[in-house]
Amino acid sequence: MPFCGAVVTFAKAIQQVCSMGDDNRIYLFDTTLRDGEQVPGCQLNTVEKIEVAKMLETLGVDILEVGFPVSSPGDFESVRQISKVVRDPVICALTRAVEHDIEVAADALKYARCRRIHTGLGVSDCHIFRKLGSTREQVLERAVAAVRYARRFTDDVEFYAEDAGRADDEFLARVVEAVIGAGASTVNIPDTTGYCLPEAFGAKIRYLREHVRGIERAVLSVHCHDDLGLATANTLAGLAAGARQAEVTVNGIGERAGNASLEELVMTLRCHPELGLRCGVDTRQITRASHLVSSLMNMPVQPNKAVVGRNAFAHSSGIHQDGVLKDRSSYEIIDPAEIGVDESTIMLTARSGRAALNHRLEVLGYNLRGAELDTVYARFLRLADAKKEIRDDDLLYLVGDIEGVKEHRIKLKYLQVVTGTVIPVATVVVRFGDRDHTATARGNGPVDAAVKAIKSMIEQQVSITEFVVQAMTRGCDDVGRVHVRMQCGTKSVHGFAAHTDITRASVEAFIDGLRRLEVTERREEENG
Ligand code: KIV
Ligand code: ZN
Repeated sequence: MPFCGAVVTFAKAIQQVCSMGDDNRIYLFDTTLRDGEQVPGCQLNTVEKIEVAKMLETLGVDILEVGFPVSSPGDFESVRQISKVVRDPVICALTRAVEHDIEVAADALKYARCRRIHTGLGVSDCHIFRKLGSTREQVLERAVAAVRYARRFTDDVEFYAEDAGRADDEFLARVVEAVIGAGASTVNIPDTTGYCLPEAFGAKIRYLREHVRGIERAVLSVHCHDDLGLATANTLAGLAAGARQAEVTVNGIGERAGNASLEELVMTLRCHPELGLRCGVDTRQITRASHLVSSLMNMPVQPNKAVVGRNAFAHSSGIHQDGVLKDRSSYEIIDPAEIGVDESTIMLTARSGRAALNHRLEVLGYNLRGAELDTVYARFLRLADAKKEIRDDDLLYLVGDIEGVKEHRIKLKYLQVVTGTVIPVATVVVRFGDRDHTATARGNGPVDAAVKAIKSMIEQQVSITEFVVQAMTRGCDDVGRVHVRMQCGTKSVHGFAAHTDITRASVEAFIDGLRRLEVTERREEENG
């Protein structure tokens, strides 16, 4: 029983677009939730799939392949639920060229506003003889029968010629002509094994356009895998040769080495207007989509991944940093804002120059000049030699040390702790103005002992309401950071310190808080 209702199908929409003369519009077919989800360990539950599907709708993809309904009840349910809540893109489900698969897919797609059945089978000799144990003629018949059967349920049917990349072009052209005759409005030419070279793949698409009768009645689609790292290049070659639909995944996830990546394709089209091809994606959503897919699928994005990798907009050599600070375009071809990233990152490493350090310090609110900047830079280089990457907290530590050279009214002069299998004891000398105070105390740990010793030197009741030690990130020689929130009567202040010695950092953070309390009190007195 065919679906009914006033559904404007994708096929009709394409005809409308073509009749308006916009034949350079590329249709983006996202298969993150089908080919991408086939990756071991990437399986999502229905709620998570709905979240990804809604994100892809916001991103503006045209067709959303959301599952293979006959494969499991979970997949069936996900396709059904997504069909109910995602309204803009065409919702597509995969089937084999098997009647039962097609019926199940049609059922799962029942609630979709625009629905597509994606059916097909292998067309390379390797698939025909070895995988299917069949013949070319039988495959041709099955292909036609599957499309005809799918057309009973929807007039938007896509046929995939699996392993078309390695198939004989003449036979492939016969299949494509036959399925278009049977009613397929899109024909997918997958490079299933990621074998093709861009030029050869482009030539295959051109061959089909030149040799298939009725080719103008269908959209040719390209679906490329990344086994040789050529998926995006092959997709572009296919589009340049006349394909008008590209099948992609977010972060390029997919079977084995993955699929052509959505973000790489979209940004290439954007960076190269001379290709004359465009798609309807809102590029500012790319980073959000990438993070969502990566976190839900538990699939970290490699740091150097094009467009969405953590380092894609990070500059680490001094020469590059200097260039980017003068003019971003010296080393960036994409404005990070275009893909929803706030700004490029200047990675502070031992190769960074003074300009990059100063830039970051200014962002953090420090305005160091002359000798002060020289001192911080010299310390920065020493720390950067010991650590791979210097982060903002490390800079706060470095600048804090410089500030330590300046005269503070309250200053740690001496700290000794005894700790281990004995009761911890601390002896502390703190300078308050022009007087040194010395105290010794026991505690349940070295920090507790030192803080008790300092508390015994002051009149006010100061309590610690929050004490956060941030874990070292790379090794036990890393800088530890301590944030402490302190309360004195109605006043609440925040103290911070960082040091490779975590006990010292804790005591310094407490003393930093005392200074701030003193400053607050002084201000209050001055204001009456
Ligand atoms: O890679 C491939 O051939 C596929 C088809 C099922 C479209 O994923
Ligand atoms: Zn695939």
